[in-house]
Amino acid sequence: MTTPHKPLVLSGMQPTNTLHLGNYLGALKNWVKMQEQMPCLFCVVDMHAITAEAGYGKPEELARATREVAAAYIAGGVDVNRTPIFNQGQVPEHAELSWVFNCVARLGWMDRMTQFKEKSGKHKERASVGLYTYPVLMAADILVYRATHVPVGEDQKQHLELARDIAQKFNNDFGVPDFFPQPEPVIMGTATRVMSLRDGTKKMSKSDESDASRINLTDTAETIADKIRRAKTDPLPLPSSKDELAGRPEAENLLSIYAALSDQTLEATIAEFSGQQFSGFKGKFAELTVAKLEPMAKEMRRLLADPGEIDRILKSGAQKARAIATPVMDEVKKRVGFIS
Ligand code: TYM
Repeated sequence: MTTPHKPLVLSGMQPTNTLHLGNYLGALKNWVKMQEQMPCLFCVVDMHAITAEAGYGKPEELARATREVAAAYIAGGVDVNRTPIFNQGQVPEHAELSWVFNCVARLGWMDRMTQFKEKSGKHKERASVGLYTYPVLMAADILVYRATHVPVGEDQKQHLELARDIAQKFNNDFGVPDFFPQPEPVIMGTATRVMSLRDGTKKMSKSDESDASRINLTDTAETIADKIRRAKTDPLPLPSSKDELAGRPEAENLLSIYAALSDQTLEATIAEFSGQQFSGFKGKFAELTVAKLEPMAKEMRRLLADPGEIDRILKSGAQKARAIATPVMDEVKKRVGFIS
């Protein structure tokens, strides 16, 4: 399909707890690659973070986590001289467009969102309204810049489908074909869904009670080695083909992470360790993970020692982001009929 929209990448991460290997391999690593291909914008979604308990009612913790995520973006390879990074809360157009989109999205669409069901658990009535409309704000994050590409992990696919539906319905209802693009999810690499180290059928997540289930970007070398040593495995030797991974979620997860970290295919990783015991593999796995993450953690610590500088970077990024968002939002208001 031809589209009048210029390629633009937008993505974001929530500043709740610390970032982990899933966030790095599923998203950040790919953002850095995409920077070489098209203009990008990366935000720290502090407004999303207050939808759930972890980020709500804890202003100092939220600000700390926001700076930490910004530091991770930079330490992971985002070049702030060409790519604005900013926190959502400094760009009011996200919230403005989100309100309009709340009136575009249908309740039936929202009721299908699986992440809300998972996050609200058994007591839906106690969840915040913000948690329910969270994917609408996410659509606004993307479309307020008319972004065309959204690099994310697999878990965000459904939210991207909703953003596409909202864009299309707005275009139809307000009679402006092509006003908003159909943003495409970009899900790339061999670790698009990194699983828990304690249970290969569960996603590695910031909200898992067990810290041993994830490798945090700020973990020390000893902690990383220890978590990998204790990672759940199965009694068989490592497989010699992809087919043999069937029914072995832990083996598949560890081999996929190894492949992603070493920038090789899953097939090549399987061939490298074919028939070996987990214990030897785990030693190499720990070495590789530490080699990849340690320089990043060190750079994050260096950046975080000067929070004022991070705040300056976020402010300057927000100004650049607003320069794109304001004219789009002005046009939305005109189309909707808000007198200005
Ligand atoms: P968040 O903060 O949960 O995660 C940030 C990014 O990391 C990816 N990710 C994973 N990838 C692979 N394996 C995992 N175990 C794993 N866990 C997380 C996520 O897919 C995501 O790409 N709703 C979003 C944040 C958001 C956003 C946006 C993203 C808000 N607005 C606009 C893109 C565009 C979220 O909660 O991500």
